[in-house]
Amino acid sequence: MHIADRTPADLRSASALWDQAGLTRPWNPPELDLLRALAGETSTVLGLFDGKILIGTVMVGHDGHRGWVYYLAVDDTHRGNGLGRRLMVAAEDWLRERDVVKLQLMVRSANAAVLSFYDRLGYEDADVQVRAKWLR
Ligand SMILES: CC(C)(COP(=O)(O)OP(=O)(O)OC[C@H]1O[C@@H](n2cnc3c(N)ncnc32)[C@H](O)[C@@H]1OP(=O)(O)O)[C@@H](O)C(=O)NCCC(=O)NCCS
Repeated sequence: MHIADRTPADLRSASALWDQAGLTRPWNPPELDLLRALAGETSTVLGLFDGKILIGTVMVGHDGHRGWVYYLAVDDTHRGNGLGRRLMVAAEDWLRERDVVKLQLMVRSANAAVLSFYDRLGYEDADVQVRAKWLR
């Protein structure tokens, strides 16, 4: 297995993985997110491959101040084998290489089960409120 930067050619396999992992929403086409992340100089999407098959992803980038991850997903037949941790370590390394000192992430309230995963990886409750406003 190996981790590599994704390319636009992976649009379909990445979208399918994110759908399966419950990370997509009808109003937010994942293809646009992937293309934007790949086009930017401060972001990328890392893919974990079993041979040629995409079995995990993490989108990572920074906003000039802090690092963020999105779309962390491991194919459900491969979970529980340390691959989610491996992807998060790769995202952390990607940010360290760019001198970003803090990584943040958001977990949907409906996805409370994944909080234990982040606990295991050393991610603490940042005790902040996140506010959002639609721009369309
Ligand atoms: C979250 C996710 C990426 C974890 O991937 P994974 O490959 O199963 O995780 P790992 O095997 O690397 O687990 C790492 C550690 O977390 C623990 N862990 C993983 N999932 C857990 C859970 N749901 N509850 C408690 N602990 C969990 C593991 O036991 C392991 O502990 P250890 O290293 O101390 O033994 C995977 O469950 C997934 O794709 N979920 C759906 C998408 C999602 O919710 N993404 C996060 C959006 S914020």
